[in-house]
Formats: sequence, C-alpha cells, structure tokens
Amino acid sequence: MNVITSTARRKIEVAMVKVCSLSEIPPGTLKGLQLDDGRRVLVVNLDGELRAWDGTCTHEEADLSTGFLLGERVTCPLHLSQFDLNSGEAVTPPAKTSLRKYNLKVENEEIYVDLD
Ligand code: FES
Repeated sequence: MNVITSTARRKIEVAMVKVCSLSEIPPGTLKGLQLDDGRRVLVVNLDGELRAWDGTCTHEEADLSTGFLLGERVTCPLHLSQFDLNSGEAVTPPAKTSLRKYNLKVENEEIYVDLD
C-alpha cells in the first residue's frame, strides 16, 4: 500500500503554481509569470489548447511573455528568435536550445503549472 506523507503532499502542492484564471488567457494569447526564485513561466492558448513552457529565452534570457505570439510560434522580443509552441524547439537563430515544457492542469477555472 502506498501512503503519501504530509511532507510529500506539501511538496506536490508546492510544485503546482497558479499562473492565472482561464478567462485571462483567451485563444491566441499568452500569459507570463515570474516566480520569486527568478524563473519564468509562459502559458499559451493555441486555439483552446493550453501549453506551458519555461518563459525565459534560451539565448540571452529575455522574457518571452513580452514577445509576440503569431500562430503557433512565439518571437523573442530581444533578438527575434522564434520558438515552436508545440515542440518548444528554437526554429530561428540566434537561440539554439529548446524551451523546457511544463505540465499544467486546469482546476476550478484556474491554470496551474507543475514546475517539477
Ligand atoms: S534573448 Fe531571445 S533571441 Fe536573444
């Protein structure tokens, strides 16, 4: 029998971070969140499909939530690299490294991202 201790339960709960309400991110928009530890999360709504990515550009750490969403790509506001928001792949230079993907869930109309 598996038992989840209160410490383990707290760790699970801490890993889920609320980003925003579902109503704040209509199709074709993105939303960013900066965490206290400096990490950024980027949530995008691609025609009703929600996805969560690390929100920091893999080139020189620009905030991708201030970039431009066009179709299924986000363009970095600093040097204009584009990232595919289905795969996370950096599809145009200068960025070469893909974005890290996060799992997310919607509960009671709120979007939570799993940072583990
Ligand atoms: S910081 Fe994003 S492309 Fe340079």
